[in-house]
Parts: sequence; structure tokens; C-alpha cells
Amino acid sequence: MQLHHLPFLAALAGWSIQPALGVPHSPRDQEQAQCKKTTVAILGGGIAGISAAQALTNASVHDFAIIEYRDTIGGRAWHNPFGKGPDGKPYTIEMGANWVQGLGNPGGPQNPIWTLAQKYNLKTHYSNYDNISTYNEHGYSDYSKLLDDYDNAYEIANQKAGEILTQNLQDQTAQSGMALAGWNPKKHDMEAQAVDWWKWDFEDNFTPLESSLVYGCAGDNLTSNVFSDHDNFVTDQRGFNTIIKGMASDFLKGDNDPRLHLNTEITDIEYHKDGVTIHNKDGSCITAAYAICTFSLGVLQSDAVKFTPSLPEWKQTAIQKFTMGTYTKIFMQFNETFWPTDTQYFLYADPVMRGWYPVFQSLSMPEFLPGSNILFVTVTNELAWRAERQSNEQTQSEIMAVLRKMWPEKTIPEPTSFLYPRWSQEPWSRGSYSNWPPSTTLEMHQNLRANADRLWFAGEATSPTYFGFLHGAWFEGRDAGRNIAAVMKGHCVHPESKKLKECGQRRHYETLHGTSPLADYSAVNGWTANSFYDSNTD
Ligand SMILES: Cc1cc2nc3c(=O)[nH]c(=O)nc-3n(C[C@H](O)[C@H](O)[C@H](O)COP(=O)(O)OP(=O)(O)OC[C@H]3O[C@@H](n4cnc5c(N)ncnc54)[C@H](O)[C@@H]3O)c2cc1C
Ligand SMILES: *[C@@H]1O[C@H](CO)[C@@H](O)[C@H](O)[C@H]1NC(C)=O
Ligand SMILES: *[C@@H]1O[C@H](CO)[C@@H](O)[C@H](O)[C@H]1NC(C)=O
Ligand SMILES: *[C@@H]1O[C@H](CO)[C@@H](O)[C@H](O)[C@H]1NC(C)=O
Ligand SMILES: *[C@@H]1O[C@H](CO)[C@@H](O)[C@H](O)[C@H]1NC(C)=O
Repeated sequence: MQLHHLPFLAALAGWSIQPALGVPHSPRDQEQAQCKKTTVAILGGGIAGISAAQALTNASVHDFAIIEYRDTIGGRAWHNPFGKGPDGKPYTIEMGANWVQGLGNPGGPQNPIWTLAQKYNLKTHYSNYDNISTYNEHGYSDYSKLLDDYDNAYEIANQKAGEILTQNLQDQTAQSGMALAGWNPKKHDMEAQAVDWWKWDFEDNFTPLESSLVYGCAGDNLTSNVFSDHDNFVTDQRGFNTIIKGMASDFLKGDNDPRLHLNTEITDIEYHKDGVTIHNKDGSCITAAYAICTFSLGVLQSDAVKFTPSLPEWKQTAIQKFTMGTYTKIFMQFNETFWPTDTQYFLYADPVMRGWYPVFQSLSMPEFLPGSNILFVTVTNELAWRAERQSNEQTQSEIMAVLRKMWPEKTIPEPTSFLYPRWSQEPWSRGSYSNWPPSTTLEMHQNLRANADRLWFAGEATSPTYFGFLHGAWFEGRDAGRNIAAVMKGHCVHPESKKLKECGQRRHYETLHGTSPLADYSAVNGWTANSFYDSNTD
């Protein structure tokens, strides 16, 4: 490799942001001369961006700039004050990520998010998905047997999904996979539909019909088998993003570090073989030798950021192929806890609408936020978009009608506080997290991960193994940071084997094949957990 950036690095230290607005019609070179210069521009300060910056720091690359839309780092690990506690101060509730998913088994690999949670003493408690009571429009109704029926069929479908993956066969929808395995809920069997929602949509954010059988099952397998099937719910009053701020404190001197640019909205990204120029809404600009774009799939799918030149067709196809879901938690505080105090989850089967305020979660328990009288309900996708479009009053009255059906014997008071995020409308997120629709392939996904010249991509959605999770974003940020540091030093080290190998450009596929052969499941395509499938090709 002929890339030697060290003199370049030294020459760049200490430049500052200059507004580019004063020279609207100047040629590109002249305009770029006015931009702040850095070696690596990290676009977005969520966990992927912070993990990328930490990986660069670990590789002794200290010249980078983190550019973030909001007034804080943390991204979709976002909390808000809510209601009132016993001391009169509000509680902290998580609008976004809330669980550490798949902690890890003793002796096995640990989820890096769990490592961070322990390091920063994050307050969490075991989330027991089996601790669920079932309801319909007439109140309590024990249809818990359906939960077991689903699990039995899932085991068969999951095995079949593994065969499809390893034998390079055609993917199916999760719905058809489950039907073939014996779970085929009728359209009017609303208790079965509620179970179907709870077991699939609650995690994947889309219906089984809208989801890939193979990658839905594989994703579930990888988090719960590579780590563990133990999930903890975060109630830390400092907020979940304490761990991201903790990571950043290893290398940033707080919010005033000159390398951190908060409240800065990126509007244009120019990329080419020698570097990248970032233009911000406030008129400032930054030129960099490399950039790592960590925007959510929802942001990439919207036209919020302009790429020059337009992203290659293979990249645009991948961006529009994968799906961005919406997962909306609606929080309510009451003056009393009128629901059972010993159970974590309450499943509601609405008689006409699948996914209508289907699962309520109690925080008013000794292990969570004792005495808080806080209950929240989760809706996804079409019903989330609907709730996000309508007023709080309308949503609240719909939920109150449901609660009064679930506990008809109780006099249920109106909530004293009521709050929910509008994920689909947040310009910096445009949804909650990504999913794989039916008939996607690993090759297609690799085109989402691959770089376009000096512009790299990382984040939750670029992880083929842990998409949708904080740990997926953490691994992808680390991978991009490590790779760029290696390219700058003229070599690449394979992270696990420590073997030297060529790298720099991530592989992309100009021609997609209908399926991805088992040999594709390697680190080259981001599939770092491949020992799970006994195919150590890398
Ligand atoms: C409701 C919800 C529930 C979730 N539950 C869980 C869970 O329980 N467990 C779990 O592991 N994961 C969960 N997730 C997923 C998890 O939050 C994400 O996978 C993770 O936070 C993504 O990190 P990221 O760095 O890839 O992206 P982000 O956190 O989105 O970071 C990208 C950053 O880019 C910034 N940005 C965007 N556009 C611009 C622009 N134009 N200019 C400048 N900056 C910009 C954003 O402000 C953001 O800070 C949940 C997510 C949501 C929304
Ligand atoms: C950076 O190095 C520290 C110390 O070894 C390690 O704990 C951390 O996970 C590394 N971060 C990344 C993103 O590689
Ligand atoms: C939930 O767990 C508690 C404590 O173990 C138990 O008392 C309760 O009956 C459980 N509820 C359900 C529905 O399993
Ligand atoms: C998931 O794990 C199970 C049990 O180890 C295995 O039988 C199955 O093939 C795996 N499925 C997928 C899609 O990886
Ligand atoms: C809660 O408020 C309702 C009326 O809104 C009232 O009837 C009830 O007694 C209150 N509960 C407590 C514990 O104060």
C-alpha cells in the first residue's frame, strides 16, 4: 500500500472550523481550503460513532472530528425526564434502547454492552419475558398455552432456517416458515395474533410477513447463543447512554473537546478517491482523508443528506432494500398502581386489530422503579406511525379504553403524566431500528456496509449478525475505525487472527446472486460470528 498519511496528519493539527458561506461561487478547491481539516470525520455521535473514535484512539489515531446533530452524544440511546418521583423530581425513562440484550455466559464471549454496563455500574434488572399475563377485551383470559405452541413451532422453523442458510437455499418470509412449522394463526383468532405479535413484532419491529425467515432467526440465534438468552432492562436514572458517555470520556475532554461538534447538522457529503468534504447547515465545512457515516438507515433512506456524486447504484439499492421500523413506547404515570404488582408484562388481544396497544410493561415493581406507578405500552410500525401522527389526547383515550377492558373490575384513573417519542419524525433518526425483509442475502447486505471511495459506513444497520442492537452498532463502529487506522498505516490486521492481509476497500457486489453461499459468511462480509456455523473461512 502506498498510503502514508503521517506527514499529512502532522500538518493538519490545530485547524479550526471556518464558515464557507462567504464564498458561495468559488471553485471546489478554494472552498475546501476554507474548511476545517481532519484525518477522520465521524458523522454522528451514537454508539457506532463513539466506538469508531475509540478504536481510532486505540490505534493511536487522534486526529478526528465527531459531528453530531443533537446537543449530546448517545444517539438512539436517548432518555427523557418523566412524571414525578417521591422527592418531587422526575424519573428518567428511555425513549429508545432499553435492554442489554444477550449478556453472555460465564467463560463465553460477553456482550460488549454488558461489559460497559458493568464498568459504569449501570442499574439493570433481568427482564423475564415468561412473566406475562394474557388478556382480551373481556379482561383476564388465560391463553398462555398459545405461547408454548408458538415456541414449539419456532424451534422447528429456526432449524429449517439454519438449513436454508448453510445449504444456500432460497429464503422465505418468517410467516411462511412458521406456518410450515405448525404455527398458522387464523386472521380472526386474535389471541393467537396477539401471541404472534409478542413473539415476533415486539423484537423485530415488523410482522413475520415483512421479515426474512433466515436472517430473523439467525439474528436471534447469534445474540442469544453467542452471548446468552438473558436480557436485562435498564432503569439507571443517569440514562442508558451513561455507557456511551463513559466510553467517550476515555478520549474526549468532555463536551468542550475541540474534536466534538455538537448541534451540527450535516447536509452534504462530497466524497472521492482522496477524501471527503462535509458541509453543515450552519455553513461550516470539514475536509477529511476519510469519513465514517453512522446515520441510521432511516436517515439514509430519506433525502435529508445529499451525497456528491450520488451514491453508486449498488449502494442505493441496498439502502432502499432494507427496512427501518418504528417501535414506540408510550409512558404513563398514575396516582396508584392498579395493575398486578408481581408481573412484568401484560399481553392484550384486541378483538379487531392486531397490534392494538398489545403489550403493557410495569415499572412499578421492586426491581425496576418501585412505587413509581409507571406503566408503558409499546406499538410498532403501522400502529406506531399512526400513534406518532395523532395527538397525545387521542392516543391516551385509546389506551385508557384498553386498560378499562383489561381490568373491568377496577376504577382506573386518568394518568397524571403521559409521554411518547415520535421516532418516525425525528430528523436525526427517521425510525427506530432496521430489519431484513424476505429474500435478502448477505451479499445484498454487504453493499450496505461497503465503502464508497473514502466514505465508510457503520452503525446498527450495517451489522449482519447483530442488526437492530446496540452491540451491532458497537462492533461496526469498531470495525470501521480499526480498518481506517490500518489503511492509514499501510496494512490491515485481521482483528481476530491477527494475520496481516490486504484491505482498505470493503468488498461490494456489482452483481447480486439470488442467495449467498456459505463461504460468504466470513469477516469479509462482517459475519464475525461464523464459528457458530462451523465455516471458518477467514
Ligand atoms: C425505540 C428503540 C428501542 C430500542 N431498543 C433497543 C434495546 O432494547 N437494545 C438494544 O441493544 N438496542 C435497541 N435499540 C437499537 C439501538 O438503539 C441502536 O441499534 C443503536 O443505538 C444505534 O446506534 P448507531 O450509532 O448505529 O446509530 P445512532 O444512535 O442513530 O447514531 C447516529 C447519530 O447520527 C446523528 N445524525 C443523524 N443525522 C445527522 C445529520 N444530518 N448530521 C449530523 N448528525 C446526524 C444522530 O443524531 C445520531 O446521534 C432500540 C432503538 C430504538 C429507537
Ligand atoms: C479500546 O481499548 C480499550 C482498552 O484495551 C478496550 O477496553 C476497548 O474496548 C477498545 N475499544 C474499541 C472500540 O476497540
Ligand atoms: C411473575 O413472577 C412473579 C414472581 O416470581 C410471580 O409471583 C408471578 O405469578 C409471575 N406471573 C406470571 C404471569 O407468570
Ligand atoms: C439457530 O440455532 C439452532 C440451534 O443451535 C440451529 O439448529 C439453527 O440451525 C440455527 N438457525 C439459524 C437460522 O442460524
Ligand atoms: C387516584 O385518583 C382517583 C381519581 O382520579 C381517586 O379516586 C383515587 O382515590 C386516587 N388514588 C390514590 C391512591 O390517591
